[in-house]
Amino acid sequence: MIAKLLLDKKREGKTLGSAEIREFVEGFTRGEIPDYQMAAMAMAICCRGMNERETADLTDAMKNSGRSLTWDVITADKHSTGGVGDKLSLIIQPLAAACGVYVPSLTGRGLGLTGGTADKLETIPGYNASLSLDDFQRVVKETGVSMTVQTSEITPADKKLYALRDVTGTVASIPLIVGSILSKKLAEGAETLIFDVKCGSGTFMKTKEEALQLAKALVGGAKAAGRKSAALVTDMSSPLGRAIGNANEVEEAIEILSGKSFDPKVTELCIELAALMVSKSLDLSLEAARLLCQDKLNDMSAYKRFLEMVNAQGGDLGKFEALLKTKTYKFTIQAMRSGFVGAIDAEKIARAAFMLGAGRAEAGDEIDPLAGVDLAVKRGDRVSVGSPLATLKTSRGPSGLEAAAAEALKAFKIESAIASGDIELILERVE
Ligand code: URA
Repeated sequence: MIAKLLLDKKREGKTLGSAEIREFVEGFTRGEIPDYQMAAMAMAICCRGMNERETADLTDAMKNSGRSLTWDVITADKHSTGGVGDKLSLIIQPLAAACGVYVPSLTGRGLGLTGGTADKLETIPGYNASLSLDDFQRVVKETGVSMTVQTSEITPADKKLYALRDVTGTVASIPLIVGSILSKKLAEGAETLIFDVKCGSGTFMKTKEEALQLAKALVGGAKAAGRKSAALVTDMSSPLGRAIGNANEVEEAIEILSGKSFDPKVTELCIELAALMVSKSLDLSLEAARLLCQDKLNDMSAYKRFLEMVNAQGGDLGKFEALLKTKTYKFTIQAMRSGFVGAIDAEKIARAAFMLGAGRAEAGDEIDPLAGVDLAVKRGDRVSVGSPLATLKTSRGPSGLEAAAAEALKAFKIESAIASGDIELILERVE
């Protein structure tokens, strides 16, 4: 295989053969195809696209670049394409486990505006989100659920390619996104794969059409690889829940799991996604699975699973409570006019959280676990002049607070009349 000829072929919009794709990915993984040729291929794929068969071959080649796990129990996982305040995995994965499904979940650290699920869990002192694959398998078997980062043994081709895509403007391509997400999820081995494809300002699929296209490609790819699968396309125009950050999101997830607080939107989405995992895995109707999930949330079985997982991975929730009490620099932004909260722009809130230290600009950057934004209002709430809208927090000193507050303030649209009809959270189901 001559890499340059394949680059010419894809640049001209032609279809690559299965062996060509496999050899290109294998050559790149071994270091024989240099980064600049892989980056050129990624750009050609971005511009020219790939058909379903090519996308499946790319996924397969990336999956086969490392180890694949197999399980002798019923397994399911949920993957979200990433949103603002998206602490749902912390609730959904133990909830599905409480319903009798084993949940092996290889999750990510965040790059960009907000932390990933692993960053959030790592704010619990002692929590090991870098388990070896053997320990990952042991924790899943013992507690029914484990959340840890993808190791270099799983899809090393994706790890190398993602780093290149990140700096060459080639993230926004459906075949590349499908290859990246699906190769990791197929290698992880879960039999049922449920996708939460976000759409709106706070994520990379800005329109419903794009998100639907990605959802169909993920579900189609997972089914073609022999897995059970479904996806929800969900709204990400405003943040999910009250907390946006890392430790504050874990705190909110714990409050919901332990029944100390209730957010109808977060709970609705958690139940719906967990119910899809459970209904597909255990062959139950969706309605029966919803009821089972609601029961396991209400009777705190899901909370118990969460505590067992945290304990098995070394986390100390007593120290986490103490961490939450640590003094931070705070700034509360207030409404400058009376009316109703018409919109809270997810991207602007995420940018404010990032400015406070909740995300990382480059792999390896440190995250401030306590940095973030706590919303004081929801869309539709009535506010008067001076009503608190949100509190911004950082451990890094007071100097950045004002700029972050100005950014956060831009996120709030105060309208004189309440908007007619709420924005639906679940926009579409793909099966
Ligand atoms: N998440 C991934 O893992 N890969 C992508 O390409 C995009 C989001």
